[in-house]
Amino acid sequence: MPGNALPAALRELGGLLRAPGPISPPAGLERDRDVFVFELRALFFSQWLALGAASAMAAPGARAAYETGPRSYLAVRDTGGELRVFRNRCPHAGHVLFEDGDSVASDQLVCKYHGWRFALDGRAALLPHLPESARATGIALEPLPIACRHGLLFVDPRSSEDRFGEAPRLQAPAWMEHAAAGAHGTAPTAANWKTLYWRVPALLARLLGVEEAGLQWQRLDTLGFLAHAGADAVLLRLSPRGSQDTAVRADWLHAPQAGPAADTAPPAPAAGPRSGADGHRAGRPSPDAAHAWLAQQTAAVLADAAPAPRAFFDWYWNALGAPTH
Ligand code: FES
Repeated sequence: MPGNALPAALRELGGLLRAPGPISPPAGLERDRDVFVFELRALFFSQWLALGAASAMAAPGARAAYETGPRSYLAVRDTGGELRVFRNRCPHAGHVLFEDGDSVASDQLVCKYHGWRFALDGRAALLPHLPESARATGIALEPLPIACRHGLLFVDPRSSEDRFGEAPRLQAPAWMEHAAAGAHGTAPTAANWKTLYWRVPALLARLLGVEEAGLQWQRLDTLGFLAHAGADAVLLRLSPRGSQDTAVRADWLHAPQAGPAADTAPPAPAAGPRSGADGHRAGRPSPDAAHAWLAQQTAAVLADAAPAPRAFFDWYWNALGAPTH
């Protein structure tokens, strides 16, 4: 993209939006790399992002990696019980420290590439093959501002100098403060994030086994969504890695007093009963079946060939800041 010029597909979309009625978007809106790069700057790294349930990291030493498009974040509970979030990037050569979904506990953070070790507060603990003079330079993982809202962990991906505002306020049931972490699943897709975005309510309804019309859901940021029904909730995150490469991640949460998860994946009606005759519950997949079930439900909503509604394009254009050049 030359300089900061508006990509051609976005210029074309801006023209289409000046007239009322349905939009037939330019093909490049979902395919062009320059549109994706523009979105990265304008949408994905300019606001607080929902990562996951704080209850999944209750014990000292717990850690979890969360990928959001081309960036990744590392949440850690240190030995004093404090939650921290770092850029998931080794300060040595910039490699990702842990993969998305990696959540084992440990008393140090060890980079698998050259063995640099970090304490749970991010400070360097052991830096093999580094001259003593270089060790005095305060090498550490890059910390980021965090907030907890209704038991969900948020990170501000901007540097502390240019961040503004506060983490989003949620409309969530009281039990979310102490929610038990359930299964989590990740499903890769060959879809553009926008194709998934406006289908999110349908996907959330499937994941909770409720009718879409009665779904209680909210958008937490451009890529994060929360829905709840009864004693179950789902945090859904989109992770755009390229214009035609978006991963979907779902974390199921349950009220503390709710029963155990199903032993296998539940049957997957579009909006089936919350409890089937076999005892499976659509809102509570087992950990082993969560990935496959999420992939199945994501494929089902993507198979719906309905065009994106006009309201989506209005939202998208405003979220981009209604660019003019
Ligand atoms: S990139 Fe981590 S130790 Fe080298």
